[in-house]
Amino acid sequence: MATPVVLIAGDGIGLEVTAAMQAVVQAAGANLTWVEAMAGLGAAERYGDPLPSATLDLIRRYRVALKGPCTTPVGKGFRSINVRLRKELDLYASVRPVSTLPGVAVPYDNVDLVVVRENTEGLYSGQEHVVVPGVVESLRIITRTAAERIVRYAFELAQHGGRRRVTFCHKADVMPLSDGLFLTTARAVADDFPFLEFQEIHVDRLCLQMALDPRDFDVLVMENLFGDVVSDLCAGLVGGLGLVPGANLGQRYAVFEAVHGSAPDIAGKGLANPIALIRSAAMMLEHIGQRRPAQRIEESVRRTLSARRGLTHDLGGDGTTATLTEQLIANL
Ligand code: NAI
Ligand code: MG
Repeated sequence: MATPVVLIAGDGIGLEVTAAMQAVVQAAGANLTWVEAMAGLGAAERYGDPLPSATLDLIRRYRVALKGPCTTPVGKGFRSINVRLRKELDLYASVRPVSTLPGVAVPYDNVDLVVVRENTEGLYSGQEHVVVPGVVESLRIITRTAAERIVRYAFELAQHGGRRRVTFCHKADVMPLSDGLFLTTARAVADDFPFLEFQEIHVDRLCLQMALDPRDFDVLVMENLFGDVVSDLCAGLVGGLGLVPGANLGQRYAVFEAVHGSAPDIAGKGLANPIALIRSAAMMLEHIGQRRPAQRIEESVRRTLSARRGLTHDLGGDGTTATLTEQLIANL
C-alpha cells in the first residue's frame, strides 16, 4: 500500500524544486501518496497564518512530511515558520549529512560528516524582551533534558551509521553556565558509548578547522544557533545549498527539507537546483523503509553530477531545473 506523506511545496523556488522532486521520486519507483498541505506566504494570505493548524494536524496524523522552503513574512508579527514547526512537533534533532559528491569542484575531497543540531532551544526559544528602551535581552535556554537527548541522538547515529567519532561544539569558556551544563551533560552521555571517540571543540576553533581541513570530522553535535551557522558552512564545503539535504526528527514526527531557503533572487526563473530537496526525499524514503528507490535516487544524483550534463548555474552548468530533472530521471 502506498505510504501517505504530507507535502508542503513552500514559497519561491519551493514550487519549482517540489515539482522536480515529485517527478524524480515517482520515476524512482517510490510508493507514496502525497497529502498536500500549505505553509508560508500562500498560507498566510489564505488562512491568516503562515503555519495553519490544519497543516500541523496533517503532519500529526501522517507522521512524515517533506517540505520545500517557506518564506516567513517579515514585519507582520509572524514568528519563523520553521522554528514554530520544530517546536510544535518537538522535532528536536536537525540532521544534515554533508559529503563530497563526484563532479563537484570543491577544495577538499573525502568530506563525509553529519551535523546534528539541537532544534528546539538555545537562542531560538523566541524569548526576547525590551529591558529598557535601547536594551534588549534574548534568552538562550539550555536544559539538561534537551542537551541529553540531542547528544544521545548523535551517538546513536554514529553507532548505527558505522561512524567513529562524535565532536561536541560549544563555547563553555564564555558561557560557563549554559554551555557548561550542555558540556557536562555531553560528557555523561559519552560515557555510555565507550567504543566511540568523543571530542570537544570550541565552535570558533571548529570553523577555523573546517576551513583549513574538514576531512577529519565525523559526527558533529551542537546547540541551535551554532548548528544553524555551521551547517551552512558545511554545505559550502561540498558545493553549496543546492546539494545538501536535511531532516528534522523527533520521537513521533519527521519533517524532511533542504537546507536552502526560498531564494527570491532566482524564483520563477527555472534556475533552481532541485537536488537538495530530491536528496531530502531520498532520506525520507529511507526513513519510511523504501530503501530501494532511495538508493536509486542517490546513485542517479552521483551519476548526473559526474556526467555534468544539464546542470544548473550554481553547479557551473548552463542548464535549468527542467534539464537537470530530465538527467536525474534518465540516470535512475
Ligand atoms: P536562500 O537559501 O533562499 O538563498 C541564498 C542564496 O543561495 C541565494 O543566492 C539563492 O539564489 C541561492 N540558492 C538557494 N537555494 C538554491 C537552489 N536550490 N538552487 C540554486 N541556488 C540556490 O537564503 P536567504 O536568501 O537567506 O532566504 C530567503 C528566504 O528563505 C527567507 O524568507 C528565509 O526566511 C527563507 N528560508 C527558509 C528556509 C526553510 O524554509 N527551511 C531556510 C532558509 C531560509
Ligand atoms: Mg539556516
